[in-house]
Amino acid sequence: MSKSGVTEMIMKSVDKLGRLPPTLNKVIEVVNNAKASPKDLAQVIKYDPVLTFEILKLINSAYFSIRNEIKTLSQAIVLLGMNTVKNLCLSIALAQKLSAEMPAKTNGKSFSISYFWEHSLKVAIASRLIAAKAMNPPSTKEEFFLAGLLHDMGKLVIYSVVPDAYLNMLHESKETRSSVHHREGEEFGITHAEVGAQIGKRWDFSDGFIEAVLGHHKDEFSDEHFAQIANCVKVANHYVHVYDDLRESENSNDEVEKHARDPLPDSVFGSIKANREKVEEVLGGELQVEFERAQAFLSTLSGQSNKN
Ligand SMILES: [Fe+2]
Ligand SMILES: [Fe+2]
Repeated sequence: MSKSGVTEMIMKSVDKLGRLPPTLNKVIEVVNNAKASPKDLAQVIKYDPVLTFEILKLINSAYFSIRNEIKTLSQAIVLLGMNTVKNLCLSIALAQKLSAEMPAKTNGKSFSISYFWEHSLKVAIASRLIAAKAMNPPSTKEEFFLAGLLHDMGKLVIYSVVPDAYLNMLHESKETRSSVHHREGEEFGITHAEVGAQIGKRWDFSDGFIEAVLGHHKDEFSDEHFAQIANCVKVANHYVHVYDDLRESENSNDEVEKHARDPLPDSVFGSIKANREKVEEVLGGELQVEFERAQAFLSTLSGQSNKN
């Protein structure tokens, strides 16, 4: 098939993933209505039992460190705020939809969905830690976590359209140490960042989120706010890979040297107004601990928690 044919199929698949499910449309409508109360939002969400189950499960997980068990959606919404719950609903629904579209094994090999969500969750946590603890001034905006969580979602779509070709490309880019992002553009005419941004648009995510997903492999930006959030995800992604590689090759100096040779440029840290040493101190001290507390997210994202 021609490259443009593949691009077209990928975009068709993005369209098929399509518009928001009706419950989520209503969730957004309620949250955008200044007069709506947490109770109104709870009324809408409770029509979706899977979503209700997942939200209560996550809120009662170690990640949110809430002392007393939260039993109702209204309590959860009062505690976390309408916007946080809306964003939680959007990401859970989207992640589960993407996971459900994954093809079965191809040629005996398959894309590891559990590794994919583990990586995504680590980048989300790292991005939030950097924004809240290393940036100046700090930011607790949820866009940092969400853009980190879904930054690579376009990979799932491209893989689901051309699974064999995508696995071959991943293998080859690992062998030749070339950038996956760059190779996607060459082979499929579209990158996972572009596909992810298109999905974000259709699912009504914020502009900051969309630009961050689109720009997490980019070097130049015209808007400072978008540059900051995209670069924050880029830094988070970089360090998650560094720590993973280090763990994998504990006894091999080779890998350590590889990353020492390949650090992020100062301009990236300048853009997020963070100091490199501070970022390394925060992530080195807290990323793994936070990730362990967030394990409940993994079964939710891969759509496994309500199948057990
Ligand atoms: Fe990426
Ligand atoms: Fe990534």
